[in-house]
Amino acid sequence: MSTTDSVDFVITGGTVVSHDGRHRHDVAVAGGRVVAVGDRLAAPGVPVVDAAGLLVLPGLVDVHVHFREPGMTEKEDFASGTRAAAAGGVTTVVDMPNTVPPVATAAGFQEKLDLVSGKAYVDFGLYGMLGRDNAAEMTEMARLGAMGFKLFMGQTTGDNRCPDDASIYQGLEAAAAAGLVVGAHAENDHLLRLFIDRLKAAGRTDPRAHLASRPEFVEVEAVTRFVTLASAAGAKAHIHHLSTGAGLQRVRDLRAQGHRVSVEVLVAHLHFDESAYDTHGNLIKLNPPIRPAADVAALWEGVAGGDVDVIATDHAPHTAAEQAEPDVWRAHGGFVGVETMLPLLLTAAAEGRMSVEDIVRVASYAPARRWSMPGKGALTPGSDADLVLVDPHAEGVITGAELKSAHGVTPYEGRKVIGAVVGTYVRGHRVFDRGRIIGGPVGRQVRPRA
Ligand code: DOR
Ligand code: ZN
Repeated sequence: MSTTDSVDFVITGGTVVSHDGRHRHDVAVAGGRVVAVGDRLAAPGVPVVDAAGLLVLPGLVDVHVHFREPGMTEKEDFASGTRAAAAGGVTTVVDMPNTVPPVATAAGFQEKLDLVSGKAYVDFGLYGMLGRDNAAEMTEMARLGAMGFKLFMGQTTGDNRCPDDASIYQGLEAAAAAGLVVGAHAENDHLLRLFIDRLKAAGRTDPRAHLASRPEFVEVEAVTRFVTLASAAGAKAHIHHLSTGAGLQRVRDLRAQGHRVSVEVLVAHLHFDESAYDTHGNLIKLNPPIRPAADVAALWEGVAGGDVDVIATDHAPHTAAEQAEPDVWRAHGGFVGVETMLPLLLTAAAEGRMSVEDIVRVASYAPARRWSMPGKGALTPGSDADLVLVDPHAEGVITGAELKSAHGVTPYEGRKVIGAVVGTYVRGHRVFDRGRIIGGPVGRQVRPRA
């Protein structure tokens, strides 16, 4: 970097945190990219952003959001969802395909891309669905830039019954040929339906019945079947929202046998245990369910020990009225989270449960690498200038009314947090500044590196 006129701005005086360390460094940005990281990069005539006392992180990469386009925009849309992401320091999201209609064909994928392009405030990838007999469509979706594929083994929002094993296997073959990750919602649909029917017959409608309907072996069985089939097909396997200690132990066993699989846990599964059914009612309904405290402890151990690769949000908005549904079987699974992930993880760091480096590793670096996202997950010269400025000491309280999502109903309402997002940049564009979204929808589609 010999001339200053090629630099757009320099972030000075902050502490740059990566997945493996931290340094007091300046960051120079030009043309949407990081061009230098080092000392005293400020130069006459170059605008400076003073980050003294702040941490500078690569933008978070949330590989599990549901922004509900098309078909369920009364819950959220790409504009509100990506504004929430920007406010939460999340600069890349990957959006799930369980929309109306589901994204299970190349035509549907293209329609969704056309629909959301130009509305996003952060960069985004799109998943296609691994559905029944759609392997050929998956191949086409890969050509259109699908970030990967989602396999719904267990019932959740939308109409996505688990495909038969032959369809799953052929879908895994198609994904393997395209070099793309398949992520599974690993719950056995037949079993959970059996237990739901039994609980209904017994007259249960209370929030805890949801937990009772999905015992841990429902997850363990699906994890085992999915990893077995993915290995046989040579596909890159990922488990979304693993929720039990038994499931994590099965992953360890499978890895010991030579199977390769990445594992994600949700912020929510790390922050709530089953006591939340009493305090939060059906708002806390989530698929897979919020679990007993022993499972929460096992997931934290998995994070600390490195068995958990990725933390994500499963940002799954519903309308305020839907979130107030008293009958557990009519209640919707999921709640918002993309905006509260970083403050909650920073709070965990302040409490000594993880380091900020761990946050960068599980919520930025590792997902960017696993899904082969060019330029994401790191702040090294040549990377996209996706940056979050964080005040690690700022104390605040999560308040639903202040969230940027379409419906600010959050189970974290009133929770104290230590650590706040002060500013967010997407490829050098400042999109969030101290509580406010600024600028326009600069987000672009991210395609996996070939
Ligand atoms: O509770 C959930 N809600 N879990 C999922 O896997 C999907 C999500 C949704 O789309 O509402
Ligand atoms: Zn989800």
